[in-house]
Amino acid sequence: MTLQSLPRFISLEGGEGAGKSTVISLITNTLRELGESVVQTREPGGTPLAEEIRALLLDDHDEAPVSDVEVLLMFASRVQHVQKLILPSLKHGAWVVSDRFADASFAYQGHARGLDMHKLNVLNEEFVGVQPGLTLLLDVSVETGMSRVSKRGQLDRIEQEDLSFFETVREGYLARAAAEPNRIRIIDANQDEASVAAQVREIILDYAKDHLSE
Ligand SMILES: Nc1ncnc2c1ncn2[C@@H]1O[C@H](COP(=O)(O)OP(=O)(O)OP(=O)(O)O)[C@@H](O)[C@H]1O
Ligand SMILES: [Mg+2]
Repeated sequence: MTLQSLPRFISLEGGEGAGKSTVISLITNTLRELGESVVQTREPGGTPLAEEIRALLLDDHDEAPVSDVEVLLMFASRVQHVQKLILPSLKHGAWVVSDRFADASFAYQGHARGLDMHKLNVLNEEFVGVQPGLTLLLDVSVETGMSRVSKRGQLDRIEQEDLSFFETVREGYLARAAAEPNRIRIIDANQDEASVAAQVREIILDYAKDHLSE
């Protein structure tokens, strides 16, 4: 079974502090300037129930989820997000731009936590079933990303992992980008905000021209 590619669904990926939340509104605004309607969302989360699952995943609780449960909760929130928000929005003619999607599970739970990739692929293919037409990978060095995030104050449960965990996440993302160069575009996110923004805008304008509404 293969994943159905959804051309007007764009995801944004990258490690902690890569700048995803900073550039997502730039993507949304660029598409809106073209007269398109856009739904901006995020993972884990994106619907009320999926946001509750996000809190289970990221907040500190007395009992942390074991790795298998972490990935199952991630996928549970994703399936809810796909069926209740992403597919209906696309059906109504909007673009959907999401801060993280399935590549994050492969990078974090697969590469970094070491879960069986075959199991992740089965979950993804059997339950999610779709993938973005375009994914922007904001690639930043772990030191730079973490120094940006640490200025934000309180770290969530996953952000409290050690640096080697995030190095593996980064490698995982880069390996996925190398395997799917047509879908995943790597952006050097070590650069200043204006340079990253210029690259993102150029890619979005170039991509969008082939997928505009009638
Ligand atoms: N290119 C950049 N250069 C310098 N600082 C940046 C850049 N992009 C974002 N920042 C700053 O770094 C911090 C983290 O950025 P942001 O929240 O967008 O990252 P993120 O990828 O969403 O992180 P997270 O994975 O933790 O959600 C913010 O304070 C933001 O203003
Ligand atoms: Mg963010």
